[in-house]
Amino acid sequence: MTTLTKPDEDAAPAAGEAFLSVRDLKVHFSTDDGIVKAVDGLSFGLERGRTLGIVGESGSGKSVTNLAVLGLHNRRKTAIEGSIKLDGQELTDASEKQLETLRGKKMAMIFQDALTALSPYYTVGRQIAEPFMKHTGASKRDARERAIDLLEKVGIPHPRQRVDDYPHQFSGGMRQRAMIAMSLSCNPDLLIADEPTTALDVTVQAQILDLLKDLQQEFGSAIIMITHDLGVVANMADDILVMYAGRAVERGTVREVLKNPQHPYTWGLLGSMPRLTSDVDEPLMPIPGSPPSLLNPPPGCAFHPRCGFTDLVSGSRCPGERPELAPGRAAACHLTVEQRQQVFIDKIQPRLG
Ligand SMILES: Nc1ncnc2c1ncn2[C@@H]1O[C@H](COP(=O)(O)OP(=O)(O)OP(=O)(O)O)[C@@H](O)[C@H]1O
Ligand code: SF4
Ligand SMILES: [Mg+2]
Repeated sequence: MTTLTKPDEDAAPAAGEAFLSVRDLKVHFSTDDGIVKAVDGLSFGLERGRTLGIVGESGSGKSVTNLAVLGLHNRRKTAIEGSIKLDGQELTDASEKQLETLRGKKMAMIFQDALTALSPYYTVGRQIAEPFMKHTGASKRDARERAIDLLEKVGIPHPRQRVDDYPHQFSGGMRQRAMIAMSLSCNPDLLIADEPTTALDVTVQAQILDLLKDLQQEFGSAIIMITHDLGVVANMADDILVMYAGRAVERGTVREVLKNPQHPYTWGLLGSMPRLTSDVDEPLMPIPGSPPSLLNPPPGCAFHPRCGFTDLVSGSRCPGERPELAPGRAAACHLTVEQRQQVFIDKIQPRLG
């Protein structure tokens, strides 16, 4: 019989290892058309109490990465290589049963659409109480009180009356809050929020983000926030990981990446999004071309067919040699640090303002 958790001495993170440590992760799907390399050599770390914003165009591998952390890929059709360690425990070779336990207890996900996470057939209260009972062994009565408590925390008015409502009796914003309450029922150490507020109007969006911040302060969770909205990242995250074609191309603190971005793709991404500080409509500059096919990604730097700076790099390095992301504050690009700084000051900064 497999044990559910490894002994503590085995599970403790090694010195210098982050609370969540993803190393050289590859997630490849077998399809009728061939192998889709959705994530292809991704590394990052995240500490408790910190928020990592993951940004990148549609199809860059953000959701696939996080579904791999949660162990939610179909193992028969998905090849997963590399290492994902949570608090020292390796997840890539964990059993379904171990993952299921971890998913309620240590890690939880907030989806974009509450309706995909909440069942229409059970009351909201029951859906919050059940994982709590399952993972803590609490009684029905205590779990119900816990559900009421959490509904109150996420700002549902009259939670004692609303706890027995079905999801369809809640508004969209309330359902999203209820789902957050459900994901928090066991105080997860790692919370993954995939576009958690995209479907909501701006006011509710702001309230939910504030709520996540408060809850993080209270529970000290690590949060991964996947979003297309740089305003959300600026407001919520401590660090940013920029993904392109299944790899990290730039990493740094929010301030570093938003104020002094270093990778040509990040420059494109920032130029193609509304300015964070302006409320006037300004022309956006879309990145030329479209994201590559992950069945047959471009060789070398996957961004090279869309990059306007390849002529600054000697020889045919851009299409010929894949740039790696060094540890710490870094960009995976063959331009030298000096070249990047020069281009940023001369061409990019004036456009970004
Ligand atoms: N089960 C699967 N089988 C085959 N390909 C898949 C599967 N799941 C995802 N993909 C592909 O993997 C790539 C990355 O998908 P992913 O959902 O991670 O993108 P994303 O960055 O989350 O995009 P978005 O911003 O649109 O949510 C896409 O090309 C997608 O089509
Ligand atoms: S490595 Fe070359 S193609 Fe890739 S981002 Fe840098 S300059 Fe552009
Ligand atoms: Mg996604």
